[in-house]
Amino acid sequence: MRSVRVEVPATSANLGPGFDTLGLALDITNVVTAVPGGDDAVLEGGVVDPHRNLVCDGWHAWRAAHGVDLPGVTFRMEADIPFGKGLGSSAACILAGVTAAAACSGPWSAHDVLDVAARLESHPDNLAAAVMGGLTAAICDGAGVRALHLAREIPLDVALFLPDQALSTAAARHTLPREVPLRDAAFNLGRLGYLAAAVTAGKWEEMGIAMTDRLHQPYRASLVPGLTEIMQAALDAGAYGASLSGAGPAVLALAPLTSGERIAAAMLRAAHAIPCRGETRVAAVRPFGLTVNTLEHAPER
Ligand code: HSE
Repeated sequence: MRSVRVEVPATSANLGPGFDTLGLALDITNVVTAVPGGDDAVLEGGVVDPHRNLVCDGWHAWRAAHGVDLPGVTFRMEADIPFGKGLGSSAACILAGVTAAAACSGPWSAHDVLDVAARLESHPDNLAAAVMGGLTAAICDGAGVRALHLAREIPLDVALFLPDQALSTAAARHTLPREVPLRDAAFNLGRLGYLAAAVTAGKWEEMGIAMTDRLHQPYRASLVPGLTEIMQAALDAGAYGASLSGAGPAVLALAPLTSGERIAAAMLRAAHAIPCRGETRVAAVRPFGLTVNTLEHAPER
């Protein structure tokens, strides 16, 4: 078996109204190299348990799902996706392990990878965008994941405010009510449809209203100090739309090309006024999803 290198993008889920369905791939990536050898799957690096982590879980999930006999493997990860910030780092780690196992097993498809990864993460939004790139809509239908592109190329800057404090998705989901009023569900359905239409038509100036939400952001705002103010600062500075990124705590703004740094600076000023400490990044939308390369030689340590 040869070594395999998997590059998986960060993703921002929901974009406001698309709770658990919309995902946007960004040009921030984790690169995981799988080097065959040993008796077990092991992740080097020392940050997490080498045997029990999402990369190894992904590897084992593929093996179990397809009944394949895989050798031991050592994973090396170069991680650029911030952990616990709402940018799909869990999805990226799961997908790295699943995809490495798939690539070591024989023919595989992106759809197979998505289906297996979805067994380890309850919502398919980040996973679909990370596999397919661009802006995706994904659903689970019981048998597996169905996902389609709303757009691959999105000519916008993505300004991000990343609070210092991480937030677990489990904690952020715990704040959500089990039931919501019909008027709030209808509010989100309307915005989601309108968002899809705005993206399809490239009417970015409609994204501000399209990205509003009543199903999760109002409940999560208590966990993300300054969320409302930071989103408003982005809009006031000229962003087309703003939302909590996934379960948070990162805040995302979609901005006209070349204005991302200016809008990120406005978000940072608003955060400091709360005060909420953090940093900013400006990203682009990645039009393609994860990539896999087979290496001729094991990489140098
Ligand atoms: N749709 C998920 C949530 C995304 O909002 O909980 C988590 O990254």
